[in-house]
Amino acid sequence: MKDLRSFLKELEKIYPDEIKYCNDKINPYKYEASAVMESFDRENLYPLVSFTNIVNLKGEETDFNLLFNAFSTMEKLAVAVNVDQPRRPLIMEKYYQGSLHPKPVKRISSGAAPVKEIVWSGEGNVDMNRLPLPRINEMDGGPYLTPIIATRDADNDRYNISWNRAMMIDKNHLGLWMSPRHLWSIFSKYEQRGTPLPIAVVLGHHPAFFLAGAGLTKISQDEYEVAGGVLGENLRVVESETFGEELLVPADAEIILEGLILPDQRSVEGPFGEFTGYSGPQRISWLVEIKAITARKGGSIISVFGAHQDNLYAHMPIQADIFHNLKTIMPTVQDISWVDSGGPLNLIISMDKKTEGEPIRVAMAAMSLSNFIKHVIVVDEDIDPGNLKQVMWAWSTRVQADKDINIIKRTQGQVLDPSLTEEIAGSAMIIDATKPIGPYAVKAQPPEEIVKSALVKKVFEGLQ
Ligand SMILES: Cc1cc2nc3c(=O)[nH]c(=O)nc-3n(C[C@H](O)[C@H](O)[C@H](O)COP(=O)(O)O)c2cc1C
Repeated sequence: MKDLRSFLKELEKIYPDEIKYCNDKINPYKYEASAVMESFDRENLYPLVSFTNIVNLKGEETDFNLLFNAFSTMEKLAVAVNVDQPRRPLIMEKYYQGSLHPKPVKRISSGAAPVKEIVWSGEGNVDMNRLPLPRINEMDGGPYLTPIIATRDADNDRYNISWNRAMMIDKNHLGLWMSPRHLWSIFSKYEQRGTPLPIAVVLGHHPAFFLAGAGLTKISQDEYEVAGGVLGENLRVVESETFGEELLVPADAEIILEGLILPDQRSVEGPFGEFTGYSGPQRISWLVEIKAITARKGGSIISVFGAHQDNLYAHMPIQADIFHNLKTIMPTVQDISWVDSGGPLNLIISMDKKTEGEPIRVAMAAMSLSNFIKHVIVVDEDIDPGNLKQVMWAWSTRVQADKDINIIKRTQGQVLDPSLTEEIAGSAMIIDATKPIGPYAVKAQPPEEIVKSALVKKVFEGLQ
């Protein structure tokens, strides 16, 4: 049975350098946890850090843990989707295939559900100050959660899961940001009828469950079942404390806040540090009233530092979707990678080009698939798109700016991009860093078969 704890054990076993436990006393409300993560980031280090000795918002010691960087490297994503090599194309493909093969949920009783070990309900008990909620960036409007919101559309009995930022407003209210996707459309329907929407705010679970919440699934798909496909086993669910059968919640979650998105009520939410590395704007967002808190003993909160690499890697399902679609229209596409800074605004595509012009068509397709993408660099298949040194070498030696750089004016941009000056219409750029078809300068290196030979491999490993 897969949960966050089985993931951590697996990660520690396979990639011990990828995980650290911080036992020093930390107050996450005073930015201490996020400051530790900022220090790692400045050194280009991305371990998962579990803060195990932290205080809650009342300053009291707590058994709960706070965890950052659950997604921040290919190694973690490989363990999350169960791939034995941390290679990007394999991870994207495995995620995609999992999402295409949903598995029905497995219902268990409350007595058997780990997430019911602790139940806080009723006046006085429902108090988020009892949890170690972090403040992350100096400008943030309050303590922030980056949870999965699970809900059921009662009209068709379909479960939806999505990743949404949530700011603590007071002990039992959150401000929730929803862009106009599935959660928003389900809530809008409820709001028109004047009905609140029951939700489960899932603070921790196996990272595969979280990744499924970031995927671009169809509105017809049950996303608990998609999560089962990505997990590789049936998601175990249990009835909620507050809504009973009306809302089943993930039984192996670490901590769940049960609540209602309230109709005709809004709240100020933000600012919040975003994927661009800048503080995102304050907004008028939706208001959630928390009705109950249930948890496992020693439950963990998964926190994503919005302005760090963790956030970019958490978007892998979107990358997987773009990769799959690009390969469908242009089978010569080999791999794609975001650039590890500035979020998904820059995309690198590698391809085994067969005719001139293919790179531009592929780049335009990528831009049409996601308004995240502002700049695309297309490289040949001998360049690893995740290796910026190689990409820059291709740019230096295979590009003539007057013919290989295309600027596209007045394209829809990403609302969080601070360089946009005219609402969200900006410009996009495609750099074709592929060699022209035909003979080209030969790479200076020893013969490839000698570099790959058993002897050289043995000598090299011995020297490392
Ligand atoms: C770390 C992270 C944070 C996110 N935060 C938000 C958010 O605050 N609001 C939002 O609308 N989408 C957010 N997203 C994107 C959605 O989760 C994503 O678009 C998802 O597919 C929406 O699901 P839905 O279509 O089922 O509603 C976030 C994604 C990630 C990976």
